[in-house]
Amino acid sequence: MDPNKESVDKILGDFEKHIQTYQYGQSPIELYEPISYIMNLGGKRIRPLLTLLAYSLYRDDYEKILTPAAAVEVFHNFTLMHDDIMDNAPLRRGKATVHEKWNPNIAILSGDVMLVKAYDMLLEVEKEKLPSVMRLFNKTAAEVCEGQQHDMNFESRDSVSEEAYIDMIRLKTAVLLGFALQYGAILAGAPDADAGRLYEFGVNIGIGFQLKDDLLDVYADQAKFGKQVGGDIISNKKTFLLIKAKELATGEKQEDLKRWIDAKEFDKEKKVAAVTKIYDALGIRELTEAKMHQYFEKGFGQFSSLQVPNPKMKALLLQLTQDLANREK
Ligand code: IPE
Ligand code: IPE
Ligand code: MG
Ligand code: MG
Ligand code: MG
Repeated sequence: MDPNKESVDKILGDFEKHIQTYQYGQSPIELYEPISYIMNLGGKRIRPLLTLLAYSLYRDDYEKILTPAAAVEVFHNFTLMHDDIMDNAPLRRGKATVHEKWNPNIAILSGDVMLVKAYDMLLEVEKEKLPSVMRLFNKTAAEVCEGQQHDMNFESRDSVSEEAYIDMIRLKTAVLLGFALQYGAILAGAPDADAGRLYEFGVNIGIGFQLKDDLLDVYADQAKFGKQVGGDIISNKKTFLLIKAKELATGEKQEDLKRWIDAKEFDKEKKVAAVTKIYDALGIRELTEAKMHQYFEKGFGQFSSLQVPNPKMKALLLQLTQDLANREK
């Protein structure tokens, strides 16, 4: 077995064990049960892993920050619970979404209390680090909401530029990956310049990460992906794929695409198949992959110039992030 893999698995195993011990609350059950439900659906745990690995670039006692690292994962799962209502998504990690299994009001309120629980976990950081960590976290959390609102606004907008799209995904997704890394570095007492560079690295791979998510939304094997394939097409999300297709389509393809986007009533499966066919004919998948790699490479360039006390951890973190570009879920 690859020794690097073994170590990430060890950290992940310790993290999973740790979050199982956390009690979110008991009563009323409708408020708390959805939290355990979503937290136990088995996400990739990328964000807390980034925090734990960034910390481990500088120190060898990551056990001390398992609760603060869990704050990022709980916050992420809160955003997913609300995102699934907003996106009308039926599936999350292969199971029914919270608003489908219970109802939207339950998903709203459980999500709200998850945000509060994330703050409780964040409070466990060392006292003198709390104000700076809290400021960064709040800035990031507000940016995620800003990105989510742009994402919603774009659904009903006719044209969205590539630049506006990249900025939207930087906000809704990438800054949280940047935060996760910077947070780990700050908790380890790393130099400010390093923490800042790790943030930039995280933002760039985070943009690549969302481009990959947009690709998977069209091209994934649904059983592996665990989310509804074609969801973005159904709701006219202005993903990089759709923006490029609108830019490149001419003649019949252009008319077809416009017809599907404007259709008020349609057969979902037919729309997904038709739009995917247009993407295929225009080589959209390859264009999106190239854009994704561009952002990953930019991030890796920033990361590789970083000098850290633990080069083995640096290799592990690099491997983990490289794997994100090839993931199937
Ligand atoms: C899904 O995040 C939301 C995006 C920002 C694309 P992940 O792909 O990290 O989802 P889980 O936590 O592993 O399920
Ligand atoms: C979600 O982007 C980003 C946040 C949850 C903040 P998506 O809407 O693409 O995420 P998925 O595909 O539902 O996981
Ligand atoms: Mg969504
Ligand atoms: Mg969304
Ligand atoms: Mg998505």
